[in-house]
Order: sequence, then structure tokens, then C-alpha cells
Amino acid sequence: FSRIVKPTSALACQATRHFSTSKQNNTKVTVVGAAGGIGQPLSLLLKQSDLISELSLYDIVKHTPGVAADISHMNFPARVKGFTGPEQLRDSLKGSQVVIIPAGLPRKPGMTRDDLFTANASVVRDVALAVSEVAPTALVGIITNPVNSCVPIFCEVMRKAGKLDPNRIFGVSTLDLVRASAFIGEAKGLNPKEVNCPVIGGHSGISIVPLISQCQPAVQFSQDELAKMVARIQDAGTEVVKAKAGAGSATLSMGFAGARFALSLIKALSGQSNVIECAYVMSDIAGTKYFATPLILGKNGIEKNLGIGKLSNYEQELVNKAIPEIKDNVAKGEQFVK
Ligand code: NAI
Repeated sequence: FSRIVKPTSALACQATRHFSTSKQNNTKVTVVGAAGGIGQPLSLLLKQSDLISELSLYDIVKHTPGVAADISHMNFPARVKGFTGPEQLRDSLKGSQVVIIPAGLPRKPGMTRDDLFTANASVVRDVALAVSEVAPTALVGIITNPVNSCVPIFCEVMRKAGKLDPNRIFGVSTLDLVRASAFIGEAKGLNPKEVNCPVIGGHSGISIVPLISQCQPAVQFSQDELAKMVARIQDAGTEVVKAKAGAGSATLSMGFAGARFALSLIKALSGQSNVIECAYVMSDIAGTKYFATPLILGKNGIEKNLGIGKLSNYEQELVNKAIPEIKDNVAKGEQFVK
């Protein structure tokens, strides 16, 4: 399970994917929240990568060593170790080059991502503190919602510890791209694996801005169809939350999307060039402190921010609506750390 990216334009967000790699690597990856709905399928997919030498699975629940034992029986090279309880968090992170964080509460019907702030802000703060102490140069992918606020929390904790490198800290918005590919492919009768649509902004409701005018292959929609497609991509998480009727939010598609993002980080670390993903990162590109755009990934995280590119008038309006929402979410995260 891995992915090679060959950009055909500045904003292409993915290209070819294949499911095994022959190249061996020495990357240690820690999943924080590994026993959860996202953490388990994510860890299952990561175990299958030959690029990972050690997979460290941490969660606060007691059965985490059981999840690790289970996954360790899959016949792939990565050594799998389980850690549980706050006293083992630092051991789980020590020496990790990549840390992926799907820890914390998911939404229930009727909740917005922002409603999770109270529960999840302290989870992200505590993990950030531990990362600053034992794995300060790791590339970090934050899945925990609200992503728009959790990334600023992580960055501010790192800043306080004197360890902030904004090129290494990412809010994982990959699921928005995966959904855009799936829905556009379905609507246009295209293979969704071949559809690449950048999604910029943030990761909640109106802050999610799909750039369908930059989709590859190019697709045409009437204005009415376009508005419906954008609304579906923005509300796709809620579609799953409603359908699961109180049993949580997207876990399987997110496990897949999280693995895609983690493996892109790992490929960039292993020296592969032209690895491109969209992610929510520290950036003043749109006049906010954080914004998701396509990024070229390298050994030290963000190698180049590819920016927003050319927008249609409609997309510019969507960005204008996203900006105040992102600014509020960022301020809330920063305030929490102060
Ligand atoms: P879940 O409840 O199934 O799993 C969360 C896991 O985190 C649990 O095993 C729990 O024990 C663990 N956990 C809680 N506090 C922890 C701590 N301090 N340290 C380590 N582990 C801790 O939830 P699920 O469905 O896996 O979702 C996790 C998060 O991901 C939620 O905040 C959810 O909103 C978010 N999410 C983000 C998406 C994105 O696109 N970025 C998409 C879908 C969900």
C-alpha cells in the first residue's frame, strides 16, 4: 500500500498508486489513539508498508497491547509494539520520525467539529508536549477534530517548548480529497482513482473548499450541480455521522486517508521526489495563520507550498466564506494554549 506522485500541474494532488513497495526503510511511526475507530484500520494499513521498520501503537485504553499483538501477526516486516497509559506515551514516541494522531472523541449526530474542542484540545496539548520532549523533529499528522483548532494548539505547545518547526506539523485533510475524488468520479462516470481535485482551506463545513476548476481530468458542472457537489464534499462527514446514528464518525475511509497521508510523509522522508499532498498547515497564503493547500513534501516536511493557484469567481467566494471561520478556529486554539 503506497503511493507515488507525479505532478502534472502545480495543483495536482495525486497520481499513481500501488499497493506494495520493494524498498526497505527504517522509519519508525507512532499512532496515537491506535485502538480507536480510525486508529485500528490506519494501523492495519500501515503495517503493510515495507517502508516502515517499527510501528508503535499508543492509546489510553487497556486493550492497546492486544490491538498491537493482533496486527503484529500480519506477515510484513514492521515490528509492532503496543503502549498504554499516559506513563507510556513518551516511550511510544521516542525515536519516531512520523507521528499520526487520531486520538480523541468523534462527533455524534447534531454535533459540529467545534463541539469537540473541549474534549480534544487537552488530548492534543498533552501529545504535543510529549512530542516536544522526545520526538521534536518528527513529522506530525493531526487527525483529531476540530483540526482547524488542534493544529494551532500543537504548534503553540511546540513554540512554548522552543521546538516549533511549522514545516513538520500537518492537519490531515486527506479525507476531503478522497471524498472529492469519489463523488466527482461517481457523478462523471470516471474511475475515482484517476480523479484528482485539490481541496484547500480548513477541515470543517464551509472552511472545506474543493477546487473543482482545477480537477484532473477537467470536469464540467452547471452552477447548480457545482454548488450541490461542493455542499456534498463539505458535509460528507455529517453524512457518515448521521448514517452511523450515534456510533461515531468516519473511521474506515479516514483510516485509509490517514494511511495515504502517513505513507506520503514516509516516502518523502525516504528521499522520493515530487510527493504532493494537500494539508492544513501554518501558512499566511490566504491572510489566515493556517490554511490547507497542496504541498511538496520532503525530508524535512514541507519542501514547497504550492499555493492556491487560479480560482474561479465561485471558488473565490467560497474562500472568502472560509477565512473568518478559520480565523476564529485558530484564535480559539491559540487562546487555549495561552
Ligand atoms: P474513537 O473514539 O473510535 O477513537 C479515539 C481513540 O482515541 C480511542 O481509542 C481513545 O481511547 C483514544 N484516546 C482518547 N484520549 C486519548 C489520549 N489522551 N491519548 C491517546 N489516545 C486517546 O474515535 P475515532 O472515530 O477514531 O476518531 C478520532 C478523532 O478523529 C476524532 O476527534 C474525530 O473527530 C477525528 N476525525 C478526523 C477526521 C479528519 O478528516 N481529520 C475524519 C474523521 C474523524
